[in-house]
Amino acid sequence: MFESAPPPAARLEIRNLCRSFGGRRVVDDVSLKIMPGQVTCLLGPSGCGKSTTLRVVAGVDRQDEGAVLVDGKPISEGALHVPPEERGIGLMFQDFALFPHLDVARNVGFGLKGPRAEIRARVETLLDKVGMRRHIDRFPHELSGGEQQRVALARALAPSPRIMLMDEPFSGLDDRLRDDIRDETLAVLKAEGTAVLLVTHEPAEAMRMADEIALMRDGRVVQHGAPYNIYNAPRDREAAAFFSDINVIEGVVEGALCDTPFGDFLTPGLPDGTEVEIVIRPQHLRIDFDRGGRGPNPTKAEGTPAAGTVERARFLGASSLVEFRMDHDGEILRAQVPSVFLPKPGTRLWLMMRRDRCFVFPRRGR
Ligand SMILES: Nc1ncnc2c1ncn2[C@@H]1O[C@H](COP(=O)(O)OP(=O)(O)OP(=O)(O)O)[C@@H](O)[C@H]1O
Ligand SMILES: [Mg+2]
Repeated sequence: MFESAPPPAARLEIRNLCRSFGGRRVVDDVSLKIMPGQVTCLLGPSGCGKSTTLRVVAGVDRQDEGAVLVDGKPISEGALHVPPEERGIGLMFQDFALFPHLDVARNVGFGLKGPRAEIRARVETLLDKVGMRRHIDRFPHELSGGEQQRVALARALAPSPRIMLMDEPFSGLDDRLRDDIRDETLAVLKAEGTAVLLVTHEPAEAMRMADEIALMRDGRVVQHGAPYNIYNAPRDREAAAFFSDINVIEGVVEGALCDTPFGDFLTPGLPDGTEVEIVIRPQHLRIDFDRGGRGPNPTKAEGTPAAGTVERARFLGASSLVEFRMDHDGEILRAQVPSVFLPKPGTRLWLMMRRDRCFVFPRRGR
């Protein structure tokens, strides 16, 4: 008989963490586990408690309740508080500051101890990884912002931290550079087996970087899972709206269905009379033409088409964003369609909803 090994402890575990300022809980019962080589994103609007969570994990702030564990051992719990410099945690924040009077090699090697040749070798390896080896003798003021950021990354990685905390580390870079640096950073962190907790308020960044996203709101983690799952199965209207523009159609449940101008929607588990919101992202609406008076041609998955008039259409490059004034209620719906379509205002068209892409939520009391 083989004995089954116990499941490996998470590299970083945050357990029921709470932190209040002036009687207000800004971090409220947050729990997370991150395995080696895994990237978890704390994603949420400004002020929801992301940086506070990170500061407690780093040890520069203390929790009121809960614990932080590394490889199953507490580093912060009750009176126990391992100081930040003994936590083996790397930090990379937005306002990373390189030492202006040290060249790249000495910036990256700053925190390293040991024989000079070994330090030099480690520094060269890291600079290779971030594509900065050729700038090894330069000073920070001789580097672009993006280059400085890569040096900062190499410096944060130099002591081989088991855990890396990153707080909006890529803001302030232009889009193209940011994509490159994100991808390089991710490759380096994965290769080193570092557990990463990354803070961002940008859903696109979270989806690009994260193995798991923890969606925060008012100090709490409201949904946690793989980007694909959070995007495609948001738990409520706000979670859906955090990732893209949304369209909302309101209705009332009758006999486990909600009847709308787009046909019936299933409303499993909701009693008759419940007010519901049917939420769909603009890219999941389809437009169709009147096909010479024969009407639109919906697929089975699309239910009933509804008619509307184009109010405005904007060309976005890969797609067009078309705003419709709907016949049935005079409200606006937005459809994001391939950019070969750019209908003129006043054009009459049909709109259809992909049923499998609609989310039905009971309406919150307002
Ligand atoms: N030391 C402090 N004293 C008092 N209030 C604080 C302190 N630090 C943070 N806060 C408050 O706690 C809340 C959460 O702050 P936090 O910095 O964690 O937000 P965040 O999610 O990182 O936001 P952002 O995306 O804007 O960086 C905010 O309302 C902030 O004003
Ligand atoms: Mg912050």
